[in-house]
Amino acid sequence: MNVLEVNELGKIYSTKGEVSYTALEGINLSVQTGEFVGIMGPSGSGKTTLLNLLATIDKPTSGSIKVRGIDPMRLNDNKLALFRRRELGFVFQDFNLLDTLSIKENIALPLVLEGKSPSAIEAAIAPIASLLGITAILEKRPYGVSGGQKQRAAIARAMVHEPALLLADELTGNLDSKSAKDVMGSLQDLNERLGATVLMVTHDPFSASYCKRIIFIKDGRFFSEIRRGDNRQAFFQQILDSLSVLGGNFDDVPFSRA
Ligand SMILES: Nc1ncnc2c1ncn2[C@@H]1O[C@H](COP(=O)(O)OP(=O)(O)OP(=O)(O)O)[C@@H](O)[C@H]1O
Ligand SMILES: [Mg+2]
Repeated sequence: MNVLEVNELGKIYSTKGEVSYTALEGINLSVQTGEFVGIMGPSGSGKTTLLNLLATIDKPTSGSIKVRGIDPMRLNDNKLALFRRRELGFVFQDFNLLDTLSIKENIALPLVLEGKSPSAIEAAIAPIASLLGITAILEKRPYGVSGGQKQRAAIARAMVHEPALLLADELTGNLDSKSAKDVMGSLQDLNERLGATVLMVTHDPFSASYCKRIIFIKDGRFFSEIRRGDNRQAFFQQILDSLSVLGGNFDDVPFSRA
């Protein structure tokens, strides 16, 4: 079964007194277990809108979403909250770690919410912290660690309860290029070694080159799709080519990094 099945998804924003705006239209997307998928598109093309619908933060105006066969829109509020907590993991551009907690306590949060025992929590955190290279900073607080370490901690928190799908919006957007490389390498390890299923939105062709498949959207519609072979550098070039065909606003894209 596919982890994610999106069918003819659409989103129209309507604000009182204003003209309504079609942000997404007719999006179809299937993601299999263990895939690592990127979503790219010009500014305003609907990437965040799509991710918010998948994250169940916002509701579609047409079409359907299924995660492991379940349509979250059919769940009542309590079940939806549980669904979001158990089936989905989130990573954001600005880390969203709680400053008053240690890195370890931050990572533990999803398990604490599930009522897991302290020993079960320790046992779950150790291997993922090790895989992500953050074992040495577990007792520190977020303000005492680097941006890349914060983001790897945020990835650990998003994955520690083994959700069906990890959703990430511009997770390298606040990082320098060295940290972005570390974070994308970590995400790749998680995907390859643990079989984590990842769907990420990014502006950045370098970060995107770690994905195995990239879907380009434009003006809220599917535009094109490319798949990576063995060579990440070659894929990076392919991404740049696709972006130039796509057009639109990519002023902030660093075209020289690979
Ligand atoms: N809550 C909202 N109400 C009305 N319009 C919205 C709302 N959120 C987004 N939009 C519009 O929908 C379109 C898509 O926005 P979205 O944020 O999904 O784009 P994006 O691809 O994530 O862009 P960026 O790359 O700049 O982050 C934009 O034209 C935006 O102005
Ligand atoms: Mg966005």
